[in-house]
Amino acid sequence: MKIALFGPPGAGKGTQARFIEDEFGIPQISTGDLLREHVRKDTPLGREAKRYMDRGDLVPDELVIDILKERISRDDCVKGFILDGFPRSLEQAKALSDAVDLDAVINIVVDENLLVRRITGRRMCSCGATYHVEFDPPSREGICDRCGGKLYQRDDDREETVIKRLEVYRKQTEPLTEHYRKLGILHDVDGSRPIEEISKDIISLLKKLGE
Ligand code: AP5
Ligand code: MG
Repeated sequence: MKIALFGPPGAGKGTQARFIEDEFGIPQISTGDLLREHVRKDTPLGREAKRYMDRGDLVPDELVIDILKERISRDDCVKGFILDGFPRSLEQAKALSDAVDLDAVINIVVDENLLVRRITGRRMCSCGATYHVEFDPPSREGICDRCGGKLYQRDDDREETVIKRLEVYRKQTEPLTEHYRKLGILHDVDGSRPIEEISKDIISLLKKLGE
């Protein structure tokens, strides 16, 4: 099963990807996580990408498309994958459709005024786990439940950058939903509800599609 999770910053793409990963045994591929890994390792690509990420802009298509293609060609993707944060532009959508056919695009719809609060309260672990100080706290403050790692805040989670990311989403990424709606593979999910309610809906939707 090849699926993509769509939605604005803070919609819950990363959060929901974990549940799908556990249920169906297919990997989450987050271009944001892959880029942050390059930034952490201070590679030439990471240094280039950071300039855009810190401003809340999209990283140039050619850089992201190369990373994505390399990632989906690995062995763990033979049964499928969950794209999180890709595609984000028409150019990326074209490159993706030249390589694979998606089975479903899940569009997580969330009221905009909830998003800033979600993102500014987010805490991350380098193992990929995500928490929220208010909505989804770890059992020990500042410590990851999954691996015991120290939680941190993302560099681009400051309020002014978040507002820019939302604007970029509306202009450059949201129009893609119409493209996938026309193809008949877009499924809207109400992402304003509690985390577990949303994941139950997504999993039962994906099971139905797989029947
Ligand atoms: P990326 O890392 O993809 O960030 P994003 O799209 O802005 O999305 P987020 O990761 O902020 O939100 P999310 O939907 O995953 O929410 P989460 O589950 O964490 O991209 C970062 C940057 O990289 C981009 O700005 C760009 O520069 C670059 N980039 C990445 N991909 C690119 C591409 N394809 N092309 C070009 N550039 C690219 O949830 C948020 C918080 O809310 C968490 O704390 C969570 O615990 C909480 N939460 C989640 N769901 C709920 C709920 N239902 N109720 C209450 N709280 C909830
Ligand atoms: Mg994310």
